[in-house]
Amino acid sequence: MDPRILLIIDQGTTSTRAVIFDAAGMPQAFHAIDLGQIYPANGWVEHDPEEIWSATLACCREVLRGVDVSTVAGLGITNQRETTLVWDRRTGKAVHNAIVWQDRRTSERCRALHSAGIGGEITARTGLLLDPYFSATKLEWLLETLPGVRSEAEQGHLAFGTVDSWLLWKLTGGKVHATDATNASRTMLLNLKSLAWDQDLLMLFNIPRAMLPEVCDSAGLFGWTAPDLFGRALPILGVAGDQQAAAIGQACFNPGDVKSTYGTGCFALVHTGPVPPVSQNRLLATCASRLHGKPQYAIEGSIFVAGAVVQWLRDSLGIIGQAGEIEALAQKAGDADGLYFVPAFTGLGAPYWDPDARGAILGLTRDAGAAEIARAALDAVCFETRDLLEAMAKDMASVRMGAPKALKVDGGMVRNDWFCQRLADLTGLPVERPQVTETTAMGAAYLAGLAAGIFQDTADIAGRWKLERRFEPTLPEACRDVLYQGWSAAVARVRGV
Ligand code: G3P
Repeated sequence: MDPRILLIIDQGTTSTRAVIFDAAGMPQAFHAIDLGQIYPANGWVEHDPEEIWSATLACCREVLRGVDVSTVAGLGITNQRETTLVWDRRTGKAVHNAIVWQDRRTSERCRALHSAGIGGEITARTGLLLDPYFSATKLEWLLETLPGVRSEAEQGHLAFGTVDSWLLWKLTGGKVHATDATNASRTMLLNLKSLAWDQDLLMLFNIPRAMLPEVCDSAGLFGWTAPDLFGRALPILGVAGDQQAAAIGQACFNPGDVKSTYGTGCFALVHTGPVPPVSQNRLLATCASRLHGKPQYAIEGSIFVAGAVVQWLRDSLGIIGQAGEIEALAQKAGDADGLYFVPAFTGLGAPYWDPDARGAILGLTRDAGAAEIARAALDAVCFETRDLLEAMAKDMASVRMGAPKALKVDGGMVRNDWFCQRLADLTGLPVERPQVTETTAMGAAYLAGLAAGIFQDTADIAGRWKLERRFEPTLPEACRDVLYQGWSAAVARVRGV
């Protein structure tokens, strides 16, 4: 029988998942394991690389249980981006915990580079804004801080990678050290135009070239899994960063197509086409995919806290027992006009890029309680999305592209109908929820399936996207704008602006 199913790994910030997709691109089996979060100091966030690997293996084995492995056409990987690992090529052991994208330990270094006037040059080369979010300063920190690491790296003994590279290395038994162009474009070491490592940036951050993975297309043969892992060597056929994968899963292939994913953070991407875009409005330019050597690009707005605010209400404030309870609680909210929650737990991402901002609940009155705080938390995610959409619309207008007409959404939070309606109301854009909201894994399945010949091309993939529900904005524009002005004022207060 023709191998026709695809095994997809989705290694995210808070959990690791494996999903089996059939040849129609539909999910058939799923397993997830939560990932431990390590907070060694204020603003620092780490993951245990061995835990990432063992959970990946366990999830894959679980979804393959009872499956004839000879029916697997290939594997795809999608992953939390920017998170930085260094490991020893001789032992396959990481030299330190993974430094997670949310980690702010290099804020000071970024500030110094800003003061030295280097920010503009970095943006011109990488499309990114100089911020601790990206891998470059995290890798520099590992090289500068850990004894012996620099000299080992210079001798070629150490490898650097984002989570995709780490998993490729482990899955292939140390045979492949590679990444794809979408993940590489988040390191702040890649030249966005050539999609090659930028020699000047390697010099600036003092990164030995021997540590870097090979940059590959997002679909194609990356290597084979070690035969003992799954009983048979399986080809690894697709790799992409999770937000780019979600954009592929949402069939955002035409300039102007926008998706927004609500996981730990919120990441909105607008597809812009084959030429690297330049954001004039403090968004990021990023590689959306590279297929057959041809890149496609996107403008991205990254918000660090979305679903994480719901977790905070559950774990720190204890006003909900489970994430799903927030919808019912928020609906009970009374007026409490003027109550705003700015969830800047780890600073503010786009379009503010303020690593030092911290969260606040503003405008508390005697009639505000748990329900009003819950609603303000969900509203914050909607207002943050509007911040991104406004910046995107300006960027798109400057290159004569029309403003976004609808917002395709996915991620855990969009199961919440109330949130989706509120998002439409507060952004003024229709919100479209697809039938399959596992779009991140689905995007990786499409990439692997393209390489396996299961899917023909992006038109074939686009034809598979199915709308589940469309939420139309109902709030009068004047109300929407007044609420948004209140949000902007609240953000200004947490920033001390
Ligand atoms: O850039 C960070 C992003 O890739 C993390 O995504 O889904 O793990 O929160 P997620």
